[in-house]
Amino acid sequence: MTLCSRRFDEKIVIVTGGATGIGRAVAMRLATEGASVVIADVNSEFGTTTEQGVRNAGGQSQFIRCDVSRSSDVQTMVDTVMARHGRIDVLVNNAGIPGPLVPIDQLAEADWERVLSINLGGVFHCTRYALPGLLASGAGAMVNIASTFGMVGAPNTPAYAAAKGGVIALTRQLAVDLGSRGIRVNAVSPGYVDNDMDQRRDRMTPEAAAANLASREATASLQPLGRLGDVGEIAAVIAFLASDEASFITGAVVPVDGGCTAFFNLGHRQASDGKFEDSPTGHPRLRPSSGR
Ligand SMILES: NC(=O)c1ccc[n+]([C@@H]2O[C@H](COP(=O)([O-])OP(=O)(O)OC[C@H]3O[C@@H](n4cnc5c(N)ncnc54)[C@H](O)[C@@H]3O)[C@@H](O)[C@H]2O)c1
Repeated sequence: MTLCSRRFDEKIVIVTGGATGIGRAVAMRLATEGASVVIADVNSEFGTTTEQGVRNAGGQSQFIRCDVSRSSDVQTMVDTVMARHGRIDVLVNNAGIPGPLVPIDQLAEADWERVLSINLGGVFHCTRYALPGLLASGAGAMVNIASTFGMVGAPNTPAYAAAKGGVIALTRQLAVDLGSRGIRVNAVSPGYVDNDMDQRRDRMTPEAAAANLASREATASLQPLGRLGDVGEIAAVIAFLASDEASFITGAVVPVDGGCTAFFNLGHRQASDGKFEDSPTGHPRLRPSSGR
């Protein structure tokens, strides 16, 4: 993509979970538009690779190892940024993990706590410690990464759904509390993205990894746009919300999901000619009976 825009010239940006996936795409995008990007992530290997990738593309970046669920890590990361730059213009709270796909009676307490402490606790810690830097900016902006699973129910994701629902509520709450202090707070809610979240497929056999991808593609094919999203399509909306072009937007939760939360899918797939046909993956109980 050729970008002419320099909406983030001189801006200091923190992207949590910026080592891979959506966060990496955000780091690359904002750096391409002029930002100095801090990549805060637990993954040092991919974090330094992304830091170098941004620099190779002509941008400015710094990787800081940080576990967002640990307040001491977050405090040190923010202190490092403030000592170097004296302010924070944009905070993208993106770090997250999926957690196990199990019903609540099979969910271990430790997994519940881990998912909540990273996906929701991380947003709390980063916001709390970055707040003085965002206030020092004079026009600070936050973008939190939620999920469609925080907006509607999906099978077997109780901890992830609770955490992402919490991110959405916290986004609105912070927009209310921080608007008068000059800080905008919004959320992006991605749908199925063409990305191996948490690098799960790396730990599977090739057959299981292929089946996992096929299953995600099959689910995505049921959505109105009928495909997985690209990380760049999520990053583009995050960049807009973080930029001055969105100067009158706060408290918004923007679905970037191919229309899946707009669609009450009764187990039908839409063919390329626009006609609906029964989907083999559709829930049989949701299929309308004949004559109704
Ligand atoms: N991929 C999807 O389909 C999808 C859909 C909806 C929402 N999301 C959300 O988008 C965000 C990014 O996910 P992704 O798909 O790019 O996944 P990803 O696994 O590629 O990226 C997540 C990043 O967060 C980092 N991370 C994990 N735990 C951390 C911690 N404790 N502290 C700091 N960094 C940590 C990982 O190292 C990784 O770099 C997540 O919040 C996720 O919930 C993803």
